[in-house]
Amino acid sequence: MQAAIIGTGACVPDQVLTNKALEELVDTSDEWIVSRTGIRERRRAGHDEASSDLAYSAARHALKDAGIRADEVDLVLVATATPDMLLPSTACIVQGRLGLKHVPAFDLSAVCTGFIYGLSTADAFIRSGAYRTILLIGVDTLTKFTDYNDRTTCVIFGDGAGAIVVRATHEKKGVVGSTLYADGSKWDYIYVPAGGSRTPSSVADKTNCYLRMKGHDTFKVAVRGLEQAIVDLLERCHLSPDEVDIVIPHQANVRIIEALTRKLGYPPEKVFVNIERYGNTSAASIPIALDEAVRAGKIKSGDNVLLAAFGSGLTWGASLIRW
Ligand code: COA
Repeated sequence: MQAAIIGTGACVPDQVLTNKALEELVDTSDEWIVSRTGIRERRRAGHDEASSDLAYSAARHALKDAGIRADEVDLVLVATATPDMLLPSTACIVQGRLGLKHVPAFDLSAVCTGFIYGLSTADAFIRSGAYRTILLIGVDTLTKFTDYNDRTTCVIFGDGAGAIVVRATHEKKGVVGSTLYADGSKWDYIYVPAGGSRTPSSVADKTNCYLRMKGHDTFKVAVRGLEQAIVDLLERCHLSPDEVDIVIPHQANVRIIEALTRKLGYPPEKVFVNIERYGNTSAASIPIALDEAVRAGKIKSGDNVLLAAFGSGLTWGASLIRW
């Protein structure tokens, strides 16, 4: 059995936060943000808009695209670092809104690499025969944990959700393989100090509820990690780099993407980039980009689609899909 992707969908909040608007909040400039990150604007969830709202909407789009009813789904996976609340899982909230009685649902957390971890998990469940139709959603609302006084982080992150429907097939298509990695010794490269069991929000200082990032250090390990994930994956799948038709990298920083594609020797037209409109949407960035690439007609049946991500944890990994 292989895990084929039979539908994609996405949802971003309506509110647009431009670089010009950020110039009003912190000492920065449109020119600095564009040249250092490639980001022109990002979306920001409203006060009453939580991760599950975006996830539910993306899931609806993916189910419609797949042409299946919600009750055909037999497992719901949500990759997120920004659940609606500490408990229950956001997957359960989405499962309930979809009316999926008794269908198992759980969150998994690998932050910006969450979608790759989720896809690998869905693939393993399908190959084992445990489930036939899996709804996988990548969603994050990191702007809720962003300090809009901190110019080094507030220019980077945006909110959104992307979803796919994965179904078991005997055809020679779907997930070919994945590589997953983590390095917990660098957990403090990107983290939110409070809100968990170490410092519950009930005793936390407000400044500890915001994301902290060692941007420069993260940049360097991101390029190395992505390269390792891709080289190992292609070797494992017995594929040469030029047999890849399209690369969809995590949209963290356009300079990371350019450095990576230079190292791997891919021409820019093979690499999908939409960071200028959304910023870094964490676990949502790859499924949003995948959905856009599909809708733009950039992926056709039989194509080898390479996904690669890097994020807090540290975590990193890549997946290869035969479309
Ligand atoms: N506007 C203007 N200046 C800024 C700024 C901003 N928004 N943010 C930082 N600067 C300043 C710094 O204060 C520093 O000034 P100094 O030299 O006077 O101290 C200068 O720009 C250079 O800072 P540095 O951190 O070295 O910049 P950089 O080129 O590394 O770019 C990032 C910063 C955050 C854009 C970059 O490091 C990055 O993208 N890192 C990866 C982060 C990431 O991808 N995280 C998510 C992983 S999933």
